[in-house]
Amino acid sequence: MENFTYHAPTKILFGKGQIANLRGEIPVGARVLMTYGGGSIRRNGVYEQVKAALQGFTVFEFGGIEPNPAYETLEKAIDLARESRIDFLLAVGGGSVIDGTKFVAAALRYQGDPWTILADRSTQEALTDAVPLGCVLTLPATGSEMNAGAVISRRTTGDKLAFHSPYVIPRFSVLDPLTTFSLPARQVANGVVDAFVHVTEQYLTFPVGAKVQDRFAEGLLQTLVEIGPQALQEPPDYAARANLMWAATMALNGLIGVGVPGDWATHMIGHELTAKHGLDHGQTLAIVLPAMLTVRRAEKRAKLLQYAARVWGITEGSEDARIDAAIAATRTFFERMGLPTHLSAYGISRDAVPSLLAKLKEHGMTALGEHQAVTLETSRRVLDLAA
Ligand code: NZQ
Ligand code: ZN
Repeated sequence: MENFTYHAPTKILFGKGQIANLRGEIPVGARVLMTYGGGSIRRNGVYEQVKAALQGFTVFEFGGIEPNPAYETLEKAIDLARESRIDFLLAVGGGSVIDGTKFVAAALRYQGDPWTILADRSTQEALTDAVPLGCVLTLPATGSEMNAGAVISRRTTGDKLAFHSPYVIPRFSVLDPLTTFSLPARQVANGVVDAFVHVTEQYLTFPVGAKVQDRFAEGLLQTLVEIGPQALQEPPDYAARANLMWAATMALNGLIGVGVPGDWATHMIGHELTAKHGLDHGQTLAIVLPAMLTVRRAEKRAKLLQYAARVWGITEGSEDARIDAAIAATRTFFERMGLPTHLSAYGISRDAVPSLLAKLKEHGMTALGEHQAVTLETSRRVLDLAA
């Protein structure tokens, strides 16, 4: 196991009715900017619950943060927050609202051009502060509610870039599974697949003797396989939604990623697919992961065999047959969730591959994966196979 420092400071308020308790988590007298998306919270009653919980605070609002939050929109939020002398941010929504709010939090305490926070790793690492933020999560998927990451898209240039800073880790997050009852099936499915792939990015690499992380990872994967289809049922099943919400948070809050190698090549290629073709984040992962595992089966061999046995119960046949069966089971699971696993199903042809590779190159994504061995040529093979 590699050395690590683990610090997970987000306070989680989990369960029915917990939105009312967020008032106790915001400093008395704070000037709060409540951020949200395109309006789902106005239709499902979450907006009213949050407003009621914020009574007594000075509250400003910024709505309209879109899926794959746009840099251009967030610049307006930064202006509003500056003018209003905001000292606490409250993100109410899915990963996009939370990520966008994290970016605003960092930009407000950064003197230079905010774009460099995304484009320049040394700027990220040099950040020394951010406005504190809390979250009310309405879509279990990204883990953003308990981690240091955010992914922002700039529409004018077709870029989708991530940044990480310990200063933007949420102070608290409210996870009320009832808020997810209004989700369309496609977003539930996106969330299940996103959480699943967050685990595989941290687990399906090479063995380092990290038994605790491996067993936690396998438990999360098995839970997602079990509850994924239940979470799609209508009327919504509280237990399934509650387990999905907690599994998705645990999948990317650092717990399973400490002391082990990380891959993340599937995510980086997925980001280019979203930036170029507008696919949902979860859809991109359903397309890329099965092809990625197929192309890189040699370097992932030991972990793929462990995955086959422990997650899918595949123990019969030759090693190659077991790996084939595990990759096929993964693909079938995504398809059963309603997410096709080929580019063609989303109307994207093989002709799109060169421009995706050009963007990967532009973003310096030429040595990805746990061995930094995913070159542009490997990405080409993955995308060709996914076509
Ligand atoms: O905008 P509103 O009206 O709220 O509607 C949203 C949006 O249209 C809707 N929605 C959310 N909660 C709802 C709801 N509709 C009905 N009822 C509810 N309770 O769902 C749509 C999608 O929302 P979005 O926030 O975009 O989805 P998600 O949570 O999947 O976030 C995706 C973004 O997170 C990034 C992705 O790249 C993408 O930009 N990620 C962030 C990560 C992180 N910060 O750690 C890691 C991930 O790998 C990922 O990259
Ligand atoms: Zn993801």
